[in-house]
Amino acid sequence: MLKNRNCGQISKCDVGADVTLAGWVHRRRDHGGLIFIDLRDREGIVQVVFNPQVSAQAHTTAERLRPEYVLQVKGTVSARPEGTENSELRTGAVEVVARELSILNPSKTPPFYISEEAEVDESLRLKYRYLDLRRPRMKDNLVLRHRVIKYMRDFLDARGFLDVETPILIKSTPEGARDYLVPSRVQPGKFYALPQSPQQLKQLLMVAGIERYYQIARCFRDEDLRADRQPEFTQLDLEMSFVDEEDILRLLEDMFTGIMETVCPSKKVFKPFPRLSYTEVMERYGNDKPDVRYGLELHSISDIAARSEFIPFKSAIEAGGKVKGICAPGCASYSRRQIDDLADFVKARGAKGLITLAMTGDQNPGGLTVDMVKSALTKSLPLEDIRELVARFGGKSGDLILIVAGSLDVVNKALSDLRAEMAQRLGLADPNLFAYAFVLNFPLFEWNKDVNRWDSMHHPFTAPVDKDIPLLDVDPSKVMAKHYDLVCNGYELSSGSIRIHTRELQDKVFRILGYQEDEIVARFGHMLEAFEYGAPPHGGIAPGIDRLVMLLAGEKTIREVIAFPKNQNAVDLLTDAPSEVSAEQLAELHMRITPDKNMQGAPVQPHCNIGG
Ligand code: AMO
Repeated sequence: MLKNRNCGQISKCDVGADVTLAGWVHRRRDHGGLIFIDLRDREGIVQVVFNPQVSAQAHTTAERLRPEYVLQVKGTVSARPEGTENSELRTGAVEVVARELSILNPSKTPPFYISEEAEVDESLRLKYRYLDLRRPRMKDNLVLRHRVIKYMRDFLDARGFLDVETPILIKSTPEGARDYLVPSRVQPGKFYALPQSPQQLKQLLMVAGIERYYQIARCFRDEDLRADRQPEFTQLDLEMSFVDEEDILRLLEDMFTGIMETVCPSKKVFKPFPRLSYTEVMERYGNDKPDVRYGLELHSISDIAARSEFIPFKSAIEAGGKVKGICAPGCASYSRRQIDDLADFVKARGAKGLITLAMTGDQNPGGLTVDMVKSALTKSLPLEDIRELVARFGGKSGDLILIVAGSLDVVNKALSDLRAEMAQRLGLADPNLFAYAFVLNFPLFEWNKDVNRWDSMHHPFTAPVDKDIPLLDVDPSKVMAKHYDLVCNGYELSSGSIRIHTRELQDKVFRILGYQEDEIVARFGHMLEAFEYGAPPHGGIAPGIDRLVMLLAGEKTIREVIAFPKNQNAVDLLTDAPSEVSAEQLAELHMRITPDKNMQGAPVQPHCNIGG
């Protein structure tokens, strides 16, 4: 080794010891006679001092040092002179007095400071990711990720789970996103798909008698990207045989609380995790991954709206829609401009507008009067209805009630986003609280009105609740699923289900989903056949590791916890992937590029045809 100690681990106990260190120049300060270097390696930083009286040669070499030069330093650990200790630095009580210095490699001036936590353009960070990852915050995120995954592995190993790898080149699995396809050279015109998840393979491992499987699995999905979505991401994929929902929920609760206690002991977690039904979360929060750290719950006033002459209410209800709202505490004093801003916010989510009711007057024990509220509603709704509406929200003096009318989907989307926005403005979400909750009792199917067919709410392998099986033939909308999600602070962290394990039931579900006989055989024949050879009852779940680590690290995007992420356009700015390939490579794959007719005027975006 070119080093015998780590910079960040030198302490007062080492005073007097001779050490050999290697690392990067974090900072350099020239104090006339003495040169100080903050030397950085993965474990941290230590101050190295070059004194011409100790070594003239090392001091002369140190004059040439610049940020990010790679050095080897031999010297003696010494206590820093009194008054010069740095309590901010773990090694701040000591310094290494250098006797020898070798420059192992110089460095160009980096495009951004490694030594400062300054805001740097993300594209630049991704292009020079190897420099970005030198920054202590990014390194800490990678360490955290390692520790989380290590905890998961140890936890599952102790419970008899086997880590089994599954292939990356597979047949397409339906998980709701587009597949990344890989053309076959040896089978012209045929494609592999990269796994959206190892769903079918882990189920086949259960048929194979593995009983308890896990894998830190890379998943690939060609879908629109968001802060919490990457085209390739990592799941802790797991599956168990001979279990029911309760077994999986308990396993998850124990694993997640264990991770928190071990990796982030200062954060608050409440156990047992609350269990909420899908219907309840949609009603109270407007989405199925609620942030339950704060209230600001949605309340329905559709009944009050239905009897009113207020046009926005009337037209929404007549069109089969709903009217719901939230009550923002202490916001009655919002200016016209602030309210217009919130109206634009909900309009951007499809709402026609925002109806507000400000509780301006003082509390009146005798009951609310019209002069105590400021709202367009007072002209159309009788006082009794205004009172009922305010009571529904538990409105108090100083509060601002924010109401949206429209289709249920739009109302829920607009208000759940507005709820999060208001919570952020009002500082309601405790950053130290991890509010885990299970969401249960999902319907098995949801109606896709764009293509007029049933879609799986989770995926087609999810089992229906036993007592609802007869309803599959009668009314699929009423069939509930053995599907569970784990959510935390507004993110879906994990999703899983008990699976179908008989051919007959799986076949029936595929048919309800609109697959034709030949398609079922071509796409899922292997699963159906496997179910005929003694498939055990089984179920599982897949926590998303990137999202969990993002929350634990207090980051806002999963890109911050992935070593080499893609940007929002699915481009790897470091290597510039995706990129063109040579004509020879295409020919080997039996493909040729033709310009996309739909993209006229746009930069050339080739698309592929299967060619000879
Ligand atoms: P699902 O599709 O719900 O279920 O995914 C499980 C978890 O994976 C994470 N996740 C993502 N993370 C980052 N980027 C993405 N694009 C992305 N998509 C999903 C989320 C999510 O909760 N096979 C099933 C699991 C099962 O049934 O066992 C599946 O993949 O945290």
